[in-house]
Amino acid sequence: MKYAVITGTSKGLGASIAKLLMEASVHVIGLARGTNQKLENANLPGSYQHYQVDLSDIEQTERTFREIISFLEDQPLDSLQLVQNAALVSPIEQAGKQSAKELTSHVHVNLLTPMVVTNLWLDLLRDLDIPLVLVNITSGAANRSVYGWNAYGSTKAGLDRYTDTVALEQDKLKTGNKVFLFDPSIMDTDMQGQIRSADPSQFVDVEQFKNYKKEDKLRSTEVVAKVLVDRLLDEKSIKNGDYFSVKDILK
Ligand SMILES: NC(=O)c1ccc[n+]([C@@H]2O[C@H](COP(=O)([O-])OP(=O)(O)OC[C@H]3O[C@@H](n4cnc5c(N)ncnc54)[C@H](OP(=O)(O)O)[C@@H]3O)[C@@H](O)[C@H]2O)c1
Repeated sequence: MKYAVITGTSKGLGASIAKLLMEASVHVIGLARGTNQKLENANLPGSYQHYQVDLSDIEQTERTFREIISFLEDQPLDSLQLVQNAALVSPIEQAGKQSAKELTSHVHVNLLTPMVVTNLWLDLLRDLDIPLVLVNITSGAANRSVYGWNAYGSTKAGLDRYTDTVALEQDKLKTGNKVFLFDPSIMDTDMQGQIRSADPSQFVDVEQFKNYKKEDKLRSTEVVAKVLVDRLLDEKSIKNGDYFSVKDILK
């Protein structure tokens, strides 16, 4: 059976990736603080199992992933994919006006948790006789500085470097595992709503992002998720160390 573990499935891109994989008979394990009744009640070829967890809490996250991995070890696995999608954009604010608490949560969810989970995943699943597929969701913000997004740009840039380095290690170790990045570009989600609600003193480009919404420039998560899921369902097409953007496929 095919299994996928996806973080951030209560809404947005993560929920759409989960649904499309379930339509393709993949058994999905989703994580978020909230739940997703639609996925839990969906009548699709693949099943859905949800873990409510705060991914900013490293101990809770490690405990939950140990539980998930021990469940998976008892399953007949034909393929196993991990999609690290959960992230937050806040605090949107110039440096000098943020709280340490907000910054800590931000760095945990966007960067430290994906590192801790990757480490655990590669360690505990080392002896599996199938190659692992692991995709981290990045953002164009990793590659450009945006006023007010100092935390978000930094954690996404860190995630890019981390993912690329792990891919290099897996290559040298000849594990056959495939680790790559996916950039979904701008999508119509709660995260964009939060961006639009920022004060111009916190985020100088706020008008531009309000216009993206007005001018219908934000892609739906279903459309973006399909691009990633098409690739996930064709494992041979995945290149270890790849950086893959929705814009490579949808112009
Ligand atoms: N939207 C865009 O335009 C855009 C652009 C480029 C990249 N991205 C990236 O795409 C990915 C998905 O973004 P999205 O727009 O779908 O975001 P979203 O609608 O805000 O959803 C974020 C998901 O992450 C989960 N999450 C956040 N904090 C969490 C925590 N502490 N513990 C557990 N789960 C947590 C949320 O669940 P709960 O709140 O229920 O916990 C939710 O399921 C992110 O990596 C984002 O950086 C988005």
